[in-house]
Amino acid sequence: MKGIILAGGLGSRLYPLTHATNKHLLPIYDQPMVYYPIQTLVSAGVDEVLIVTGGPHAGDFIPVLRNGRQFGLKHLEYTYQNNEGGIAEALSLGEEFADGEPICVILGDNTTDADIGPAVQGFDGGAMLFLKEVPDPDRFGCPVFDPEDTARILRIEEKPDRPHSPYAITGLYIYDETVFDYIGKLEPSNRGELEITDVNNFYLNDDRLRWVELDGFWSDAGTFQSLYRTTRYWAEKKLGKANADRVAAGLLEIS
Ligand code: DAU
Repeated sequence: MKGIILAGGLGSRLYPLTHATNKHLLPIYDQPMVYYPIQTLVSAGVDEVLIVTGGPHAGDFIPVLRNGRQFGLKHLEYTYQNNEGGIAEALSLGEEFADGEPICVILGDNTTDADIGPAVQGFDGGAMLFLKEVPDPDRFGCPVFDPEDTARILRIEEKPDRPHSPYAITGLYIYDETVFDYIGKLEPSNRGELEITDVNNFYLNDDRLRWVELDGFWSDAGTFQSLYRTTRYWAEKKLGKANADRVAAGLLEIS
């Protein structure tokens, strides 16, 4: 399976940080943000990746990621989204790259330590979503479950004022080749974007959507609070909680 990382947009929620570079190159503890989705894909056995980027700092990716061999990638490709027309619009730029194969898509500001390898290897068409219970589901795409059958999603709402469940639709998706047909049918949303939630609802209406719960840490990092939370999680994971606390207190310097 091929992988697509969506790393466009202006990152305006992180101004002034993103005046200087692309959001996905900001640090999450000891690595640029975009390393994490690359590592998630490589761990799942995906070694051909397309990065969709955009905005004024797109060129900053090249010296950081180069040809991707240092991550174990066989092929790394880049493309440029002209406007911030939404996640689904960014994904549409991957149609030639996908070349009829299924694709594993990760939003460039999402990090997880879950193993998506089994879902990638076992994928057999349609769409696969990864859900995670969160304290603030109103910030995300949010599923509405069938009260009669709680494993069944009736519809997905984008950033609902009153979420029907504590689950977020994370920014990790697996799609078959029909994703590009669905994107072709989209109309811009109220915020003027082609929404990935509308794509997922197309799959749902055609009874071609499945989901699993993501087993591990997951967070986006597109706001100051989520960037801080994510950085703290990865520092604690890499250093161990006790050492991370000692580092934060100035009691430990690791060379
Ligand atoms: O993080 C998961 C959430 O991501 C999902 O639960 C939502 O359903 C989904 O809409 C999305 O919500 P956000 O509003 O947080 O997405 P954001 O605009 O922050 O974009 C996330 C990433 O997608 C961003 O880091 C880069 C990429 N992107 C986004 C836009 C709008 C693009 O590549 N191009 C774009 O035009």
